Amino acid sequence: MRIGFVGIGVMGKPMATNILKSGYELMCYNRTKEKISDLKDKGALVADSVEELIEWSDTIIFMLTTPEIIESTLIKNIKNLNIYKDKTIINMGTISPSFSIKLSQELSKYDARYIDAPVSGSKNPAEDGKLIILTSGDQELVKLHNSVFESMGDKITYCGEIPKASMIKLSVNLLILHMMEGFSEMINFAKKGDIDLNSLFEIVLSSQVSNDLYKMKYKNYISEEFPVQGSVKNGIKDLTLIMKTANETGAYIPLTALNHQMYLKAKDLGYEEEDFSAIIKVLEK
Ligand SMILES: NC(=O)c1ccc[n+]([C@@H]2O[C@H](COP(=O)([O-])OP(=O)(O)OC[C@H]3O[C@@H](n4cnc5c(N)ncnc54)[C@H](OP(=O)(O)O)[C@@H]3O)[C@@H](O)[C@H]2O)c1
Repeated sequence: MRIGFVGIGVMGKPMATNILKSGYELMCYNRTKEKISDLKDKGALVADSVEELIEWSDTIIFMLTTPEIIESTLIKNIKNLNIYKDKTIINMGTISPSFSIKLSQELSKYDARYIDAPVSGSKNPAEDGKLIILTSGDQELVKLHNSVFESMGDKITYCGEIPKASMIKLSVNLLILHMMEGFSEMINFAKKGDIDLNSLFEIVLSSQVSNDLYKMKYKNYISEEFPVQGSVKNGIKDLTLIMKTANETGAYIPLTALNHQMYLKAKDLGYEEEDFSAIIKVLEK
């Protein structure tokens, strides 16, 4: 199976690297070409255009960001959409359920098959091949791609028809984004009361509220450096998608609107490309 990979960003690069390591023939495309050089050195082919990649591949995975970027890269900028005939297209980014349905319908017009397969986990789990991969779509088609998913993740869960995987993914992200903001508020509150962060973390990380997210991020707050694993920019994107989806389904999610404002403020202050734990800087201002 020839795999094409579009979007060699923070997540796409380690994911594509793991596909290559598993022995698949791989062609990559990225808007910023320099980001593909490591993969090229490891043996991946590099496409000059998305069209070239689609024509070469049996299965095309994309790890892009907003619906607008996905739509322009994969639909609007393709001159002849009939090149999608009989190809399998897999979304692995975080998108809204309604956009996933739209993509599925659009691609089916050109006799392409579609799998929705968003991931849970950040840069480090992606590097270690330990992502959680949620899949939706035709179950037989998903099964055919399980070994590709297994090259990137250690837990592959079939969630049902499209767009169930994206709905679960957004639900999980709603919680993660609130957890990060809550953790940051706790830290800011304790610091204002002259509490040493090492003592705070010793208590919190051995208590019932400890979890892998906090264990992964607490050092950022000590060093006051926030190297990106998941960006503020993607946090804003996800909160926007969550609010749009809640609007469509009628779910009442009042804290999410407030958290969205916090992350927008982080962007205004210039932290868009930093890790989403940098939200504490908004509280400290
Ligand atoms: N990071 C995480 O922890 C994490 C975890 C789970 C899911 N996700 C989801 O995975 C997806 C990718 O996340 P990421 O962290 O890898 O993001 P990222 O590092 O910002 O990468 C985004 C990718 O999209 C491309 N892109 C951005 N704007 C573009 C445009 N206008 N035209 C064409 N290509 C464009 C980028 O190309 P350039 O290199 O040229 O900018 C890059 O390849 C997102 O949906 C995110 O929500 C992220």
